[in-house]
Amino acid sequence: MHGLGRRYGDLTALDDVSLRLEPGERRALIGPNGAGKSTLLNLVAGGLRPTAGKIHFGGRDVTSLGAARRARLGVGRTHQHPAVWSSLSALDNVLVAGRRPWGRLRPGGRDRARELLASVGLDAVAGTHAGALSHGQRRQLELAVALAGEPRLLLLDEPAAGLAPPEVELLAGLLAALPGTVAILLVEHHLDLVYGFADRVTVLHSGRHVHTGTVPEIRASPEVAAAYAGVAP
Ligand SMILES: Nc1ncnc2c1ncn2[C@@H]1O[C@H](COP(=O)(O)OP(=O)(O)OP(=O)(O)O)[C@@H](O)[C@H]1O
Ligand SMILES: [Mg+2]
Repeated sequence: MHGLGRRYGDLTALDDVSLRLEPGERRALIGPNGAGKSTLLNLVAGGLRPTAGKIHFGGRDVTSLGAARRARLGVGRTHQHPAVWSSLSALDNVLVAGRRPWGRLRPGGRDRARELLASVGLDAVAGTHAGALSHGQRRQLELAVALAGEPRLLLLDEPAAGLAPPEVELLAGLLAALPGTVAILLVEHHLDLVYGFADRVTVLHSGRHVHTGTVPEIRASPEVAAAYAGVAP
């Protein structure tokens, strides 16, 4: 991301942010409510257009490409509010996501989908309609759906939101077990999860890049404490 910016009318949600993720990097993105974290994720996923700046992915300028093109290049994501097909079974949600653009299943698609469901702990509910799953299970399903697209970059928007403590622990295990070849950009308010997961942490505040550092640096940073002052992360 080079000088990335996004305005909504008079409001600058993201202002001149430049970040670089390495292949396979575990990066967390933190900051108070309204800092611009989801906006940044939506810009990278391609669902939202920047009003300034450029985005490169795998050496290619993808700024003008839509979300579907970027997904095919290897950008996967989950949403702050889980987005799955309620009337399809968990297994069918993963199958639909893993199909080729022209609608055919990949060879071995069903086995692969079952494997992915098992990897997020949902093998027992493969046949259950997604709408009948718990909130935590829908979050896990969204992760399996994102992985079915075989991403090289995975964007996760608050995967721990609304999860009970044992589910957060399960999620931490799932994140730790994701393939090391997939770069991950994790937006999260759950700081224990962030600190256990990230190689580096980027702090946003009021749309601006405040600091990027290792976990020990971030924990010790007065700027980070100031950015979070008055909010309950
Ligand atoms: N579609 C929109 N129209 C107008 N303003 C928006 C829109 N989406 C976001 N904003 C504003 O842009 C700013 C950044 O929002 P964003 O959702 O990116 O924050 P966030 O860091 O993800 O916050 P949270 O932690 O609450 O999810 C906020 O002031 C928000 O109100
Ligand atoms: Mg958000």
